[in-house]
Amino acid sequence: MKLNEETIKKYSEDVELSKELLYQGLHNALSKIDRNTEIFINTFPRPSSVNGIYPGILNGGEWDDWTSGFWTGILWLAYEITKDEKYRKIAEFQLRGYKERIIAKNAVDHHDLGFLYIPSAVAQYKTTTCEEAKITGIMAAEHLITRFRGKGEFIQAWGELDSPDNYRLIIDCNLNIPLLFWASEVTGDKKYREIGEKHINTASRTVVREDGSTFHTYYFDKETGNPLKGSTAQGNSDNSTWARGQAWGMYGFPLAYRYLKNKKFVELYKKVTNYFLNKLPEDSVCYWDLSFDDTSGEEKDTSAAAIAVCGILEMSENLNNNDENKKIYMNAAKDIMKSLIEKYTTKNMKESNGLLKEAVYSKPHRMGVNECCIWGDYFYMEALVRFLKPDFKIYW
Ligand code: GLY
Repeated sequence: MKLNEETIKKYSEDVELSKELLYQGLHNALSKIDRNTEIFINTFPRPSSVNGIYPGILNGGEWDDWTSGFWTGILWLAYEITKDEKYRKIAEFQLRGYKERIIAKNAVDHHDLGFLYIPSAVAQYKTTTCEEAKITGIMAAEHLITRFRGKGEFIQAWGELDSPDNYRLIIDCNLNIPLLFWASEVTGDKKYREIGEKHINTASRTVVREDGSTFHTYYFDKETGNPLKGSTAQGNSDNSTWARGQAWGMYGFPLAYRYLKNKKFVELYKKVTNYFLNKLPEDSVCYWDLSFDDTSGEEKDTSAAAIAVCGILEMSENLNNNDENKKIYMNAAKDIMKSLIEKYTTKNMKESNGLLKEAVYSKPHRMGVNECCIWGDYFYMEALVRFLKPDFKIYW
């Protein structure tokens, strides 16, 4: 299928994102993170806040969500930018829980192992070369490949393996695949990379629509592996574009390019990014589904905005200076970031222990609507670190 590439309608004018504003954002984020270091040591924030406050979840039997890695990742990012040992100590302390969880196979039968283990175990290994962290990350990769389905060549997202109602991939998995690329690099065993490459190739052929928009999920025929149909789980409808799904594409294809160096991922990035940018409202922070605009009365999803910024920064390193859109992408990233720092942090919500307000976890499920969510906080913090420390080596 030949994909169209939209012309970007905005962002041709230079945007100033000052160091001062970035440091203001960082300072406010660190003051919330500092408060959280007193609460979330043995416990983790739940995926979404309730009235701006994250409830905790124990690092034990009930530790069943896919998002704990983001809190540990926030600690690693805070350590990266401040070099304050207090963050590193808590993040290192938490490794044991991740190791026990993958050994016990506690709530790990899903595709989200990259979200759990990259910002935690892999981040620790990349920061400190800790052998135990490396082994923990490899165990997670080993488990993730058990979800690879030969018929259709993809990693099954959720549910019982091979059950026809769950025989599908989802675009979010773009961010889990780097766990496999990394595992091949550190073990020398090509099997992880081969599976990751097959999955991302299948996703490239199916979830991206002709106009550069994306499906959230894509079903396959269990017997033949033939692609069947796109559908949504968290978007407004099967044929609309869930904003965070599009953002997972904007960050995931550049990450695939980082490891595989196949130019087709640059082209895919451009298509999904141009589509996303053309759907942004006045203040550049997307609604939770790209079918909504400023007249809709719907909620924003600041987490999708933060992920999109990281995706643009990731790809910007790989675009030629003579690429006419390179500047436009950076203007857009700066404009989104400026809006997030100026309008969407919790700095005036004294009680809140989140960083970014106005995210949506899943509106169709009435989960975390207009709340903070922990991955939004993580990617916001990653974007701050990326802007302030351009030589930062990312965890993905
Ligand atoms: N499953 C990841 C998300 O909700 O974006």
